[in-house]
Amino acid sequence: MAASSLTLGFLLHLVLLSLLFAAKAQEVTQFSYEGFVNDGSLVLQEVAGITNDRMLMLTNTSNDVVGRAFHSKTIRMLNDSDDRQKASSFSTYFVFSIVSSTSGPGGFGLAFVLAPDIDMFVGAQAGHHLGIYSASNAVKETHIFAVEFDTVNGSDKGESDTEGNDVGINVNGTESGVSKPAAYYIGMDSKPVNFSMEKDEAVQAWIDYDGDNKTVNVTVAPVGVTKPSRPLISNRSINLTTVLNGEYMYAGFSASTGEASKASSHYILGWSFAVNAPAPPLDITKLPRPPPKVKDTSSFSWVNFAIGVLSALTLILLLSLCSVTLYKRYTNFEALEDWELDCPHRFRYRDLHTATKGFKESELIGVGGFGAVYKGVLPSTGTEVAVKRIVRSPIQGMREFAAEIESLGRLRHKNLVNLQGWCKRKNDLLLIYDYIRNGSLDSLLFKQSLVLSWEQRFNIIKGIANGLLYLHEEWEQVVVHRDIKTSNILIDGDLNARLGDFGLARLYDHGEASHTTNVVGTIGYIAPELTRTGKASTSSDVYAYGVLLLEVVSGRRPIGSEQFFLVDWVVENYNMGQILEVVDPKLGSNHVEEEVELVLKLGLLCAQHNAESRPTMRQVMRYLNFDDPLPDIGDWRRQTDSDSGRMSLGFLEIVSSSAISTVNNSTSNSSINSRPIQTCR
Ligand SMILES: *[C@@H]1O[C@H](CO)[C@@H](O)[C@H](O)[C@H]1NC(C)=O
Repeated sequence: MAASSLTLGFLLHLVLLSLLFAAKAQEVTQFSYEGFVNDGSLVLQEVAGITNDRMLMLTNTSNDVVGRAFHSKTIRMLNDSDDRQKASSFSTYFVFSIVSSTSGPGGFGLAFVLAPDIDMFVGAQAGHHLGIYSASNAVKETHIFAVEFDTVNGSDKGESDTEGNDVGINVNGTESGVSKPAAYYIGMDSKPVNFSMEKDEAVQAWIDYDGDNKTVNVTVAPVGVTKPSRPLISNRSINLTTVLNGEYMYAGFSASTGEASKASSHYILGWSFAVNAPAPPLDITKLPRPPPKVKDTSSFSWVNFAIGVLSALTLILLLSLCSVTLYKRYTNFEALEDWELDCPHRFRYRDLHTATKGFKESELIGVGGFGAVYKGVLPSTGTEVAVKRIVRSPIQGMREFAAEIESLGRLRHKNLVNLQGWCKRKNDLLLIYDYIRNGSLDSLLFKQSLVLSWEQRFNIIKGIANGLLYLHEEWEQVVVHRDIKTSNILIDGDLNARLGDFGLARLYDHGEASHTTNVVGTIGYIAPELTRTGKASTSSDVYAYGVLLLEVVSGRRPIGSEQFFLVDWVVENYNMGQILEVVDPKLGSNHVEEEVELVLKLGLLCAQHNAESRPTMRQVMRYLNFDDPLPDIGDWRRQTDSDSGRMSLGFLEIVSSSAISTVNNSTSNSSINSRPIQTCR
């Protein structure tokens, strides 16, 4: 008897399980956003919008405003694989940031919402109604499931609003009784770790609903913390089947601000959602960076207001007593000008200092270009970055400079090393880039232990061309790189090329006192017309790219000892009809001759003396993909006298060959006649 009911139970369980899996197999709907674009995938209501830096901004800091955003496609939330309908399990994960205005603690909050209709919120109010509910019966508050993240306490029951920091579940307009201060658990049995959703840079939230057990789990943690195994709220009495109305629901967010100082900007940085499956993970490093938070000077509360005033008075007294010393300290540390607050790509010096362990020598990963490069781990997000420190940069006009960086910071391409931001401190300038694991092409190409195969080299060559094409033609402005060379090409974990330091030379040049026209670049890669006119252009980038092609195929640097000039040497071999002689001996016979020959000839085509005859990067891409045949490049003749040789050697004596050099116009006037190669067709 007992045994048979056990078996029956077991069988039933099996049936249920298989039904569940059948349901899972049929209906998996999921989506994810790593940053947002205005492509119609979201329905935006009231003040909600998408910012230039890919954030979903639900509200700004205006008083009493509401903003909502919903995934524009409905989601099937009921499954009827059983006899009766049952709410599906779902899971959602999102990252948000609450940035209050300078004048107060901010508010009111935001909510994740499941609703049967997106037009049902007309009349919903701001403040603690969060743009979903209303004080009158303007909104029919049924069939709404919401998880709220509030930063103001209090409700319309007459209590005064105080600073809050709570997470709660709200079903059909009534609080479900579970509301807890924001916190997370490390391990299952530990005490909760409290944190402030408003003060932390960004907050992660997970909402998991188990349709079988009718359990809602809500978990929150600051960015950088992996998903805690124990949720903050685990509520077993929420039967969404009775909440939902119809099979299809909308998922999205709503946020609102309050009156007076209770107004924050509410941003969603990334969001994923799945029915009957765990929410897809988000790559935190790909999410937009929220604007920096204004430092909160006091946690404002009416009770210790008097104490606050007293201590403020004391502080003012102290300040006036030793204002000079304090002022000095302050400017030494981090003085902000008004305009700097508006720069989303600005980093705090303190964070970078911590990230690089105080610019410790052990964290140094390279010296070159305009400064030293350190590896760092950002304390707030745990992201690995490369921090370039330009000491005593002669840059004037910081405001213009910052504007340029803000604009370059928006460049995004798979073949670029993204510039994440910047920071200045007195005369030092810090630039923050993605950290790229494999280091530079220069170090890979000339390292003994590893030989890049032809396939890898060809892929790298195409990657650089792709990145350069983006800079030259595909972005909103033309960006001339000005310092293409192997040590500025970084190679990522999949051996793809990523161009670094783009646009920097131009910025640097802007900052230089404008009465000297300097040629910025690296010996061996500088196009001949550059030394004459000082004007970098996309075709001088193409020249450097040509030299780089020859370098990658031959495994030899552009300029060697004893008057070795790579371009001349390849031209010589080409003219003797033995161009394949220059191929890197380390490659052995493992290369595709057709491709190698194409790349070498293309290198010569790009590195020709006459700037007008060089191809554009778009044309280069077509040659590399064998879409167009290379034009017949005819005979290349080397200048008979070795002027060019002596000239370049002269440069080498002026500046060290390994360092980036700034060649002054006046010294290079005489090089007008130095023509390493010349076309003669
Ligand atoms: C909710 O959390 C509990 C732990 O408290 C866990 O056992 C359960 O599997 C979780 N449910 C979901 C749907 O994540």
